[in-house]
Amino acid sequence: MNIITKAPWQLKESDVTDEKIYNERRTLMKIAAVAGAGAMMPTALPASSDIPGTTLNFSKNSAYHEASLTDYDKITTYNNFYEFSLAKDGPSKLAHTLEPEDWSIEITGEVEKNITIDVNEMISKFPLEERIYRFRCVEGWSMVVPWVGFELSYLLKKAGLTSKSKFVQFQTKNDPRMFPEQNKKGFLANIPFPYVEGLRIDEAMHPLTLLSVGLYGKTLPKQNGAPIRLVVPWKYGFKSIKSMTHIHVSETLTDSTWNIVNPREYGFYSNVNPEVSHPRWSQAKERPLGAFFKKRTEIFNGYADEVAGMYKNMDLRKNF
Ligand code: MTE
Repeated sequence: MNIITKAPWQLKESDVTDEKIYNERRTLMKIAAVAGAGAMMPTALPASSDIPGTTLNFSKNSAYHEASLTDYDKITTYNNFYEFSLAKDGPSKLAHTLEPEDWSIEITGEVEKNITIDVNEMISKFPLEERIYRFRCVEGWSMVVPWVGFELSYLLKKAGLTSKSKFVQFQTKNDPRMFPEQNKKGFLANIPFPYVEGLRIDEAMHPLTLLSVGLYGKTLPKQNGAPIRLVVPWKYGFKSIKSMTHIHVSETLTDSTWNIVNPREYGFYSNVNPEVSHPRWSQAKERPLGAFFKKRTEIFNGYADEVAGMYKNMDLRKNF
């Protein structure tokens, strides 16, 4: 991961027509939701026909909304996906080798039963929601994304957790045919593959923690981690592992890729914290993709009311 050296984009979200239409429709949905069934309103929100992918059926969770979204083009062309490239514009050009159609997730370890479940089955069984979350990369850029997904806890509950379940490890599919950089081993590889990430069990079961299967109303673009990825909005973006196929529940702390690569710079927790600098740069501010000016970064990325309780007796500098 690098610090951004490029000049920021000048384009405002409101300059992009399809996002404008999308936002207008969201405003209407919000008004309807307030007038109608309360916080949640079931709907099949069609996205702009300009947005590729299959339209998903979901309800809009109006508890999670933001004044403006990062535009679709930026979310899908400024990516970190090292299985394809180190360059931000690499994954959108190279991820065509990913085949997300026939895909399942296996859950093993401290669960009542090991299960393997197909992504299409999850999409049809679990209630999909649109949640607009802030997303803050450890490199200092941020975005606001209308994810579509379901709570990770629904899936973990399906497998059933044992009393020894303390940590959860996630793994990206290991298939060098789909992910060309996985062909590189040892010192030739930029990072060790397959990519792995981890959460404490209470973090994994937290209602904010999503498994995303889409954004902007459509199935996930390949470069954003199709067909299914994690989204943990109060942590730095690298915790949100893409294209996962394996979840392992364990009693002890497990490895996570960036912590293996550089434990001094990337801790296991990696909660967004403006007061704890990265050893090479400050985390006090962030540049929203598409914005000219930086803005102040908030503790836990602005989700402190919901998540700070999980860390109340912890030294956040030590457990960074
Ligand atoms: N997951 C995998 N498998 N491989 C990766 O390289 N990069 C991480 C995270 N998940 C990464 C990954 C990092 S560093 C970030 S910031 C986010 O994905 C970027 O997500 P985005 O490209 O959708 O913005």
